[in-house]
Amino acid sequence: MDSNKRKELKVSAIRNGTVIDHIPSGKSFQVIKILNLKTDKNQIYFGTGLDSKKFGKKGIIKISDKYFADEEISKIALVAPSATLIEITDYEVTKKEKVSLPDKVEKIVKCFNPKCVTNIQEVSTKFNVISDHKGEMKLACHYCEKTMGKENIEFF
Ligand code: CTP
Ligand code: ZN
Repeated sequence: MDSNKRKELKVSAIRNGTVIDHIPSGKSFQVIKILNLKTDKNQIYFGTGLDSKKFGKKGIIKISDKYFADEEISKIALVAPSATLIEITDYEVTKKEKVSLPDKVEKIVKCFNPKCVTNIQEVSTKFNVISDHKGEMKLACHYCEKTMGKENIEFF
């Protein structure tokens, strides 16, 4: 390992598991929350306010012996769209990809409209992922047609 590489590894390497890298500064704790990592028995390494060439500052989370399902990856993408998901097997990077938002988000997010049928009856939520004229991501409820921005997103 050359000395440059050594400088980059601010948080311990893991043998098996998942690394969530390039989390926007200030979003790391929210990612931990939505993935329920607080109650997780797995070994977790976590760094925030780390230097990044691309983002200025970034957060990183490493979870040993855990690989995320699509639903969890969608949650990460909603909170930290710039994140990279890296899978590690026997210390080697076996998969590395930017998280991506699906076209539709089902069940994981609440509708912020209290009158929406999904908040009154036992109906699972369903949203179309759209972007507004500024290119900001929005979720449009399939049932009440209200549109919410990032700031209104609340997970079940
Ligand atoms: N990593 C890890 N454990 C390993 C191997 C890698 O925790 N056994 C982490 C590294 O710390 C890094 C990420 O996984 O945060 C990606 O590893 P790698 O592709 O080797 O690093 P870089 O080339 O520095 O990645 P990038 O330039 O995309 O940040
Ligand atoms: Zn609704």
